[in-house]
Amino acid sequence: MDRQRSILELKQVHKSFRNKDAELKVLEEISFTVYAGEIIALLGPSGCGKSTLLNIVSGLIEPDQGHLQCEAGLRLAYVFQEPRLLPWKTIEENIRFVQDNFLPASQGKDVREDLLRKTGLRAYADAYPDQLSGGMKQRLEIARALSIQPQLLLMDEPFKSADLALKYQLQELILAEHAREQLAVLYITHDPNEAVRIADRIFLFSDKPTKIQEELVLQIPQQKRRGDPQVQAVSEKILDFLLQGGDQQNK
Ligand SMILES: Nc1ncnc2c1ncn2[C@@H]1O[C@H](COP(=O)(O)OP(=O)(O)O)[C@@H](O)[C@H]1O
Ligand SMILES: [Mg+2]
Repeated sequence: MDRQRSILELKQVHKSFRNKDAELKVLEEISFTVYAGEIIALLGPSGCGKSTLLNIVSGLIEPDQGHLQCEAGLRLAYVFQEPRLLPWKTIEENIRFVQDNFLPASQGKDVREDLLRKTGLRAYADAYPDQLSGGMKQRLEIARALSIQPQLLLMDEPFKSADLALKYQLQELILAEHAREQLAVLYITHDPNEAVRIADRIFLFSDKPTKIQEELVLQIPQQKRRGDPQVQAVSEKILDFLLQGGDQQNK
């Protein structure tokens, strides 16, 4: 991780939604920096605004107050909570069409082949999305996002429809890309064990109006975390936090 190089900075971001007469305050004063090559996991109660935050970071929605600063030319990819595949394109075409804007054709092909292989989708390259299971669609989403060789990868509960073995395989893929490409990852999960396995930093969100209640930093390299009592303690701390519903008053 390159702590010297900030690629994204959020300053005092606020976001509310207006439903009929009522105003729903969702995000309140969210500020943080993402550095090149780090993995940040976001955890918090359902409905606290995690997806809203990724939508703001990706530029899909505007904050009401505050601002975002991105490194110039930052290449960003987003794995949405629900798959957004093009049903009329094959698996390979679903990847190729996003690459066209970013990589020369021959390089794009090499990257695509590699990712199809690593996600176990090589044999399905010519199939269509409705021929895939939920877990395979999710893998395809991850392969597609990585296929543009992003500097920042946003993912919204990316491993949720994967079985345990596949979940590990996908996490290994993310870790390998992260190591090789200095890829930064900002992703949402509900699983404390998974967060302490792969993240460098973990942000715990309170319930609405949502703030970053706590930031946890994991110093131990990912490869050495298994069975480490300190890492286990962080996981349990997150679990306790989530069981309290991210409630600030009950802390
Ligand atoms: N476009 C919208 N209009 C109105 N309310 C919304 C909209 N998007 C999200 N919300 C509300 O904002 C809150 C945060 O939603 P979301 O970011 O999806 O939460 P999370 O991903 O943490 O579960 C929820 O209460 C949700 O109902
Ligand atoms: Mg969500």
